[in-house]
Amino acid sequence: MHFQWYPGHMTKAKRMMQENIKLIDLVIELVDARIPISSRNPDIDELGKNKARLVLLNKSDLAEEKWNDAWAEYFKEKGYSVVKVNSKKGGGIKSIQGVIREACKEKIERDRKRGILNRPVRAMVVGIPNVGKSTFINALAGKACAKTGNKPGVTKGKQWIRLNKQVELLDTPGILWPKFEDQEVGLRLAFIGSMKDEILNTEELAAELIKFLSRAYPDVLPEKYAVELNEDPYIVLHEIAKNRNCVVRGNELDTEKAAILLLDDFRNGRLGRLTLEYPETCE
Ligand code: G4P
Repeated sequence: MHFQWYPGHMTKAKRMMQENIKLIDLVIELVDARIPISSRNPDIDELGKNKARLVLLNKSDLAEEKWNDAWAEYFKEKGYSVVKVNSKKGGGIKSIQGVIREACKEKIERDRKRGILNRPVRAMVVGIPNVGKSTFINALAGKACAKTGNKPGVTKGKQWIRLNKQVELLDTPGILWPKFEDQEVGLRLAFIGSMKDEILNTEELAAELIKFLSRAYPDVLPEKYAVELNEDPYIVLHEIAKNRNCVVRGNELDTEKAAILLLDDFRNGRLGRLTLEYPETCE
């Protein structure tokens, strides 16, 4: 689940992306609805220039609905098509094919004027690791869809998944790396479980999450763990350990275990739907 990038990874990923992007009309970019900016790679705008663009706010089930709407507006104002999706449960997936056609209508019109009729639109899914690319492709394409290319006797090449007569999807998603050199971004990625936990140790990470939640969602920790907020996040962590009976060697409180519990509850939506960044703050 966790990932770590090295310069070699980044060069390879970028080269793959540059090659594949030549083949497509539309970039379908997944972002995590809880951190729609931190889960992006700014290079995608350069890589995807001259292409139709669709941004999917994935894992929208884990983020606050009012912020999902605000983020959808934010991306629309920037000229992207946007859909809120929950790839795991299929939410929002039905509307995608229509949105793809709409996003590519200029290209379809250009083709029509040049006498090219019924050429399917070709799309590629891109996003940082763990954002839900494979889950989305499976949800959109399902099992029944036909694959084209790479059949015995047919030219070797990319695998395209035919969604219908009008849309084809490249079956391998493009992997983007996040802006992890930015501390704040790295922290948010670590909260959602997309960065190696060793950037901070588990308790430090939990303490940072407690600080964030105390500020942005002050009811969440008291309601979930019956704790009082405190200036010192380690006191709160200690209280969580006490109230959840996280102990080692009989009676010693285990704050590491409490930290894992908290992070796990947060990542799986058990603290409710929470958004970690908001459109105003990233202008
Ligand atoms: P990737 O290809 O971009 O690397 O991501 P992948 O599809 O493997 O998804 C990463 C994790 O995110 C998976 O969880 C997947 O189930 C989950 N996920 C994807 N889309 C959504 C969504 O819209 N909402 C929610 N809540 N989760 C989503 P996992 O922990 O690896 O597996 P599992 O717990 O689902 O078995």
